[in-house]
This record gives sequence, C-alpha cells and structure tokens, in this order.
Amino acid sequence: MKRTWWKEAVIYQIYPRSFMDSNGDGIGDIKGITSRLDYLKYLGIDVIWLSPIYKSPNDDNGYDISDYQAIMDEFGTMEDFDEMLAEAHKRGLRVVMDLVVNHTSDEHKWFMESRKSKENEYRDYYIWREGKDAQTPPNNWGSCFSGSAWQYDEETAMYYLHLFSKKQPDLNWDNPKVRDEVFNMMTWWCDKGIDGFRMDVISMISKTEEMPDGKVTDFYGDYSPYCIHGPNIHKYLREMNERVLSKYDIMTVGETPGVTTELAKQYAGEDTNELNMVFQFEHVDNHGKYGKWDDKKWQLTKLKAILSRWQMDLYGKAWNSIFWDNHDQPRAVSRFGDDRPKYREASAKMLATCLHMMQGSPYIYQGEELGMTNYPFQSPDDFRDIESINAYKEWCLSGQVSHEDFWPCIIFRSRDNARTPVQWDESDHAGFTSGTPWIPVNPNYKEINAKAETKDPNSVFHYYKKLIALRKENPIMVYGKYEPLMEDSEELFVYTRTLDEQKLLVVTNFTDQDTAFTIPEEFTGASCLISNMENDYGKNNIIVKPYEAFVLIR
Ligand code: GLC
Ligand code: CA
Repeated sequence: MKRTWWKEAVIYQIYPRSFMDSNGDGIGDIKGITSRLDYLKYLGIDVIWLSPIYKSPNDDNGYDISDYQAIMDEFGTMEDFDEMLAEAHKRGLRVVMDLVVNHTSDEHKWFMESRKSKENEYRDYYIWREGKDAQTPPNNWGSCFSGSAWQYDEETAMYYLHLFSKKQPDLNWDNPKVRDEVFNMMTWWCDKGIDGFRMDVISMISKTEEMPDGKVTDFYGDYSPYCIHGPNIHKYLREMNERVLSKYDIMTVGETPGVTTELAKQYAGEDTNELNMVFQFEHVDNHGKYGKWDDKKWQLTKLKAILSRWQMDLYGKAWNSIFWDNHDQPRAVSRFGDDRPKYREASAKMLATCLHMMQGSPYIYQGEELGMTNYPFQSPDDFRDIESINAYKEWCLSGQVSHEDFWPCIIFRSRDNARTPVQWDESDHAGFTSGTPWIPVNPNYKEINAKAETKDPNSVFHYYKKLIALRKENPIMVYGKYEPLMEDSEELFVYTRTLDEQKLLVVTNFTDQDTAFTIPEEFTGASCLISNMENDYGKNNIIVKPYEAFVLIR
C-alpha cells in the first residue's frame, strides 16, 4: 500500500458561518477562522476542510454559489482569505476547499444568461427540458429538499433541473464548455496554493440523456439510477484528474451519496486516477418511517457490520474517509453516544476511540472535539436550514403526519444541530460573537466550551488531542489491517489492527451497561495505548464499564 501524507492526516471541518465571528454581525467569517488557527494547531490536526466561502445568496448556506472566484460578502474579502491561507501554511496546516459544481446558484452569471433565451450561449450550461405540458414537469424526479426537481421558467416556457433547491440549478456536465470552466476555476484555486478539494455531491454530476420517470417512493420519484453514478461519471473524474488534480500535490475527497464499496474502489482506487477518497453514508443513513427523518438509534450489530465491511473491502485497494458527523448530520455524541450529562464525556471519547483507531483519514467536525450536543429545539421557528424547513412543511403542514409523531424525528436529525455556533467560552453567546448570532447558541455552553476544556487535562478536547498525537507515533493506526471480533455483540464494538509484528486491540462499549469481556490471550500483558477510564487490563476477565473505551498494543 502506498504511503501518502493524506492517508496520515487528520482533517478538521470548519463550517465558517458558525465557527467564529470577528466583527460582531453574528455571522462567522474568515478573520474569525484566522484568529483560531492556533487552537487548531494545538489540537494537532493537519488539514482544514472549509465549507463554502464563495459568493452566494445563501439559499443553502453557501452551497449555492454565484461566483466561484469571489468571497461571500459576509465572510470577508479575498485578502482575508489569502491571509488566512498564509497563516495556516505558516503553522503547517493545509487547507482544503469545498468544490460545489453539481449546481450553481440561480444568481450565477451563467444561469442568468442561460434562462434568457434558447439561443443564449450559456443555454447548454444547464439542463433544460420541455414539460409534459404546461402544468406537468418533464418527469417525476424529486428534489433532495422536497418538491419536484424541475422548475418551470416563464421566460422560455421550459423547465430546468435542480436536484437541490430551485435556487440551485444543475450544471450540464455533458457540455465540454462547462467542464472547461470548472477545470479552469479549479486550476486558479490550486495556483493560489490551496491543498485540495472536498467535492460536493460529486457522484451526481452525470445524468442519463433520456431522463425517464423514477420509481415512486415517499412523495416524489426516486431518480437515483439516472443521476447518481451516471453514465459518464468516471470519465469526467478521470478527465478532471488528468487536466487538474494530477498536476498538484493536493488531496481530494468526493462526497458520493449512494456509493458502495465496489464503486468506491473505482472512485478512490489506488490506481484508478480519480479521487483520493470518498465519503460513504451507509452508517449515517439509518432511514425509518419518514425517510431520513427518524429518531431511532442504530442496532449496534448493524452499525458494526457496515463499518467493518468498509474497512475490509477497501483494504489495500482504496482509501476510507471516516467520520461520525458533519454539517449535514446531527451531533455524534447525541446520535451514536449518550448526551446525558452523566455519560456525555465518556461516550464522546469512546466514539472518538472507535473511529480514530480504524483505517482511513479521520474527519473531525467543528465542536465534535468538545463533545458538543444536539440543540434543544422548541418549535419549527427555530430552524434555519432549508432542508428542515421544507421537510416540516411537506410532512406536517400538509397534514400528512402529525406534529407529535414527526417532531422527535426532525429534531433528532435536523442539520441545524450541527450548525449552532462553536462554544468557545462561558461568556455571552459562548464567545462566538459580540452581536446576535444568526442561529442560537446551544444553552449548554457554560458547561461545554473550548476554554474550559483546553484547561482540563481530562476533557474530551484533550482526549482528541491525544488520539491525534498517537496517530503520528503509531503507523499501525494508519496502515494496520483491520479485523472485527465479537460481531454478534450488541454491547461491544471490538476489533484488531495488525501491522507487521505489531497488533492493536480496540474495545469500546456502546451501552450504559457493565459488560463482561475476556481479553484475548495474545494480549495478556500488553500495554494500554489509551483509555477513557481506569480499569485493570492486566486481568483476563474484566467488566467493561458504560461507554468505556481502551486500546491495547503488543
Ligand atoms: C451536499 C452538502 C449539503 C448541501 C448539498 C447541496 O450534500 O454537504 O450541505 O446542501 O450538497 O449542495
Ligand atoms: Ca462576521
């Protein structure tokens, strides 16, 4: 297996709007990020992934871009960006940009031109089709943010495709001019000195020419076979690799909804010349009766089966990105751990152990290193996120399901859980802003904040710091081969890693129950690399305490 810097890196995701506000307007910004680089350096991470900072009308918080080569007004200027990049590099931190090129904003120059007339030179930059008739869109595809994926446009009496909001029209990648524009823009950023791209919904850029109706599920048609892993996807990624990526020492990670381990070997194969790694979503897609809106926790055996399959199928063939949460997911500790005060810290450390000991590049989402929790939403007015707002309308306000039934589901899964401001200290608005934050701060900020945790050697923060440092000293954490143990246990997640003569045993308790465990003979007398509580690992039979985690090495 090739050894590379990005396989050894720990990546920290910043959602700029909620990270740190420098000027009191309540919105996080680039100067705010620069002011916290020392914090990130102290934590020990190697790479920052920045969610979009480009010019945007913010229909989807920056994932709707109106100019790829300009900075969002609220976030600052290009000079602020250049300064931030230089300051990051000075500290040895790399910066990976979000690349959102499945769609643009409807306020992008290309789209404003495209909609003007059928003859416009930008017409074919987007996907336009005649409706079945004036009231009926071309097919039954649904948007990921509710409603039809087609928007009728009066100017030319045709529909355009938007797999996300109607302010996010999909680009037509079959048009070679679109590819030229995108590749030139990427080259421009690479020449500026950035260190890579996280590619938004990149598995969706190629669509079938015919665009037939999808299978009807939920409210709208499931279009996935026609626009996820579409006919030319690998061709376009190889072209991108050849024309841009291969020319720079950068890392790439594709957000690839719908990806399987078989497909990942193509997208992120050691020798396929596409991407370095992909995000898969099987372990966060435990859908229930209202699709993604569900309040159930995973059955541990199922969660383990998914993660172990990814570990083993990709071994030696492709590289994993490993994560519990991001800006689209609820907080890890609330979802996979236990955010009751008694267990929050232990379970946050347990989850971190379980993830960071696996093979792949670990991603930490801002605030995860503090054990930040889901937000206690009181009413639908608390939502800021377009996906949550639209879903509430579509399921509840339509009368389809009752508020009582739906509410626990939507508050458990809302993306806004991840988007409340980072809790820096115990002062007003958690030190995030001196003004009024664009989204309320979680009221638990007096107990959970960076200032308190950086001072406390037993904090979740210091545990993450230690895990990150251990990765640097123990190549086995990066390159060791994974093997699951006790696959039938509903309490313990146990596995080993092996590299040459060395072996790690990772034991994590996902429950609030004492659980008996026998330390395998080959680990008697092994030393403890890290653990989140005290126990006697020298004994053969031990009781693993609620949310306990430990790693033995021999
Ligand atoms: C990705 C992003 C998400 C965004 C969507 C549309 O899934 O992570 O935040 O809403 O793409 O760009
Ligand atoms: Ca600001």
